[in-house]
Amino acid sequence: MKSEIIAHLPEDFPWRNSICYFDSIDSTNSYAKRIAAEGAGNGTIVVADSQTAGRGRMGRSFHSPQQSGIYLSIILRPKCAGQDLMHLTCAVGVAMCNAMEQCCSIRPGIKWINDLVLGSKKIGGILTELSLNANGQVDYAVVGIGINCNQPQESFPEQLQQIATSIFAVTGNSVSLPKLTAAMIVQLKAMADNLFHTQQATMLQYEKDCVTLQKEVVIHTSQGTKSGFAYGIDNSGGLLVRYDDGNTDIISSGEASVRGMYGYL
Ligand code: BTN
Repeated sequence: MKSEIIAHLPEDFPWRNSICYFDSIDSTNSYAKRIAAEGAGNGTIVVADSQTAGRGRMGRSFHSPQQSGIYLSIILRPKCAGQDLMHLTCAVGVAMCNAMEQCCSIRPGIKWINDLVLGSKKIGGILTELSLNANGQVDYAVVGIGINCNQPQESFPEQLQQIATSIFAVTGNSVSLPKLTAAMIVQLKAMADNLFHTQQATMLQYEKDCVTLQKEVVIHTSQGTKSGFAYGIDNSGGLLVRYDDGNTDIISSGEASVRGMYGYL
């Protein structure tokens, strides 16, 4: 699989030799964090055919069966403060939509902030984890992406049936895992190179891709649950919400999960 991924990358691609591949691993994010702490460089990519402890946001697990999904993490070392990377998950979301559009001729939507969706169900997610030094500067960022590619709908566990699906289950077309993995890696490089130069344009594209906007939403935080209307995204990826009493708020991803008023979306 690793050689097939490399075969789909441009010949002069600078990260061709930066891929670590595993048939099975606990979590590509956990492994990437371990090697980043030991000094692994910017652009190191960890790919696995399956994960035994795939992780999602807010302590959730990510179902990661073999030979049917893409489980990939990348180590980035941008020279900036942690607070300047608030838009990273959004930029990766747009990059992953670009990769799927290019490779599979479908452009998923994004459910704020990190879920990739097709139709009304989730086909993937993004998990961003930062390590900061004592001055608040980024030591490394690990961004993990999981995409459900070729799972038949009936193979998802019962508790995921209503919320998860795969590209194959929606389109009827099976996905070349190495080809889509390579497209994702190329898009991640372009995203990382332009992370700050094109932030505004990227966030405008995120707004276009975001299926949470112009909808009634329910916001879950540690303080409780509130409902409101999602009307925009700011340049840091914050969700702009108007409550029924007319007050507005910016919801940041660290503190909240958002659901549609009438279901997952
Ligand atoms: C979410 O659904 O909240 C995010 C899911 C992210 C899953 C990917 S799969 C590759 C990487 N390794 C992990 O353990 N998680 C991410």
